[in-house]
Amino acid sequence: MNKLKSLILAVTAILTGSTAWAYDGSCLWLSGGDNDNQAVITVPKSKSPTVAIAAEELNKAWHGEPLRLEIKRDKNLGNEGFRVYRDKKGLVLSANNDLGLLYGSYALLRDNAAGKAIALREEIPAYNVRVLNHWDNLDGTIERGYAGHSIWNWNELPDVVSPRYREYARANASVGINGVVLNNVNASSKILSAEYLAKVAKIADVFRPYGIKVYLSANFAAPMQLGGLKTADPLVPEVAAWWKAKADEIYKLIPDFGGFLVKANSEGQPGPCDFDRTHAEGANMMARALKPHGGIVMWRAFVYSPADADRAKQAYIEFQPLDGKFDDNVIVQIKNGPIDFQPREPYSPLFGAMPQTDQMVEFQVTQEYLGHSNHIAYLAPMWTEFFDYVSPSSLKAIAGVANVGNDTNWTGHPMAQANWYAFGRLAWNPQLSSEEIIDEWMPMTLNYPENTPKEVTDGLKKMMLNSREAVVDYMMPLGLHHLFAFGHHYGPEPWCDIKGGRPDWMPPYYHRADSAGLGFNRSSSGSNAVAQYPAQLAKKLDNINTCPEEFILWFHHVPWDFKMKSGATLWQELCNRYQSGVESVETMQRQWTAAKPYIDPELWNDVNERLMTQARDANWWKEGCLLYFQQFSGMPIPDNVTPPV
Ligand code: GCU
Repeated sequence: MNKLKSLILAVTAILTGSTAWAYDGSCLWLSGGDNDNQAVITVPKSKSPTVAIAAEELNKAWHGEPLRLEIKRDKNLGNEGFRVYRDKKGLVLSANNDLGLLYGSYALLRDNAAGKAIALREEIPAYNVRVLNHWDNLDGTIERGYAGHSIWNWNELPDVVSPRYREYARANASVGINGVVLNNVNASSKILSAEYLAKVAKIADVFRPYGIKVYLSANFAAPMQLGGLKTADPLVPEVAAWWKAKADEIYKLIPDFGGFLVKANSEGQPGPCDFDRTHAEGANMMARALKPHGGIVMWRAFVYSPADADRAKQAYIEFQPLDGKFDDNVIVQIKNGPIDFQPREPYSPLFGAMPQTDQMVEFQVTQEYLGHSNHIAYLAPMWTEFFDYVSPSSLKAIAGVANVGNDTNWTGHPMAQANWYAFGRLAWNPQLSSEEIIDEWMPMTLNYPENTPKEVTDGLKKMMLNSREAVVDYMMPLGLHHLFAFGHHYGPEPWCDIKGGRPDWMPPYYHRADSAGLGFNRSSSGSNAVAQYPAQLAKKLDNINTCPEEFILWFHHVPWDFKMKSGATLWQELCNRYQSGVESVETMQRQWTAAKPYIDPELWNDVNERLMTQARDANWWKEGCLLYFQQFSGMPIPDNVTPPV
């Protein structure tokens, strides 16, 4: 069976909800199967199930020349790296161990499927911990999940182990993800009970041959909620003993358990500060329980108090003074921006400000603030933009909040698979560009025929590459942020008027619109958040004339008639950006329409319908925001902008 036919079957199965695809085809980027070329694969003698998987994958889909797999000592390659080279007998894939062979096999298959020549190379991942964070609750719901219910079926585990767990592991391993936090950061203590640990162990067994470790989100008050202790104070010996015993219990069941992710003293979650202890004291106590087993603690820095003057400053204020106080198996996990996964934020100033502390970035793959699973928003450009400011080598690890659910196509919007894929690829190699990643993903996933005109594939590529900027333009251009409706975080509500609502949700907290202008003054004449950045950058951000325009309303309260670089006033520029966001979606619709003859019809229709929703929403954002802000600017909508109706 050829690749196209297998894809059509796969896509048909997705859309008809048939399980055949979901359970044996995995993700679209892995859907190419069936090797008609009979390429010869030579595999080392091994009892390792990982080697067996590598051989199985290659036998199924490898279309190249004969290939030899070898396990060979090579200390440069570490535990997961691989080398592709040629010797007298032909093409060789070698690694120190079975895992390297698996990653190398997927890399070769990727070259193959994307129609690229095999590149001779050596690859080692940039980070040892490349982890997806599931915000999945034990009742099957997913916090900020837009692709159906959780894939973990806690009710039937440990007796019934869904075949989908294996497909999920396979998809992750194929892009280099090697860790999964199974449960929500707003964690139920129940996950640490003996009953649930037995279920978790079953998932870990399925993941192990794919090189994926299981981690759990731990509730800091678990010693009280589960253990019946009177306190969770990290300096009380009984509390530390409870965590130690719990860690020992976990490792008996799951010898390669990865460790804990902790959201403490954040949005109502318990934490060490409840007992007048610091984040470091809390994290270290848990880290010491895991240390003898090789586990780690990923301690989140997402802390803020809504009543304070500038939420963007708070994580830095609370965490920076703790630099050097964390144990060596604690990594502080920081969201990419200082507020909360907005369509565009400057990087969090905490990065680089704690030189003696291991840090990791938390990206959000699920599109909480970027149109859920209704909008196309390819996020690699957002993540590579972060790496333009924060050197990948300054980080110890990387996390992404998963966009995976029980939907047959895994991610709700079929094109959102690109974000899962891109997260994995960047976690393996943060030097990759958004374009390189989409060049891999698109032909593997959309599987258009080889004779598809170049202008059509170029159009599809542009549709993906420009999509995030389109979202920024129609939602919150020029550094505006958090204009979202309270609760669902989908549509606009800069006018929010909930009685008794959280202070930071009440206008004009984030946008500060008034008759003088728009934007949050975080310069030295305002909240002085700029001072948290390194001196040179702080200086640039502080000056309204040198602050990059994409952040101007993040850092400055800008007069309505301020002259922007384009020569337009702020008000005109704002109108132009909203208009441009709406027009970008119209362009995306045209690009998708041009591809209609070359894409599977059901997949095409699905994406097309979602694009219609996206176009409607883009207008909704534009009209809602412009009409609202016009009350303050008192200026007319410029002629080139379609007036709100
Ligand atoms: C956001 C999100 C919450 C989530 C929180 C977190 O605020 O809306 O649902 O719990 O981030 O990252 O902890």
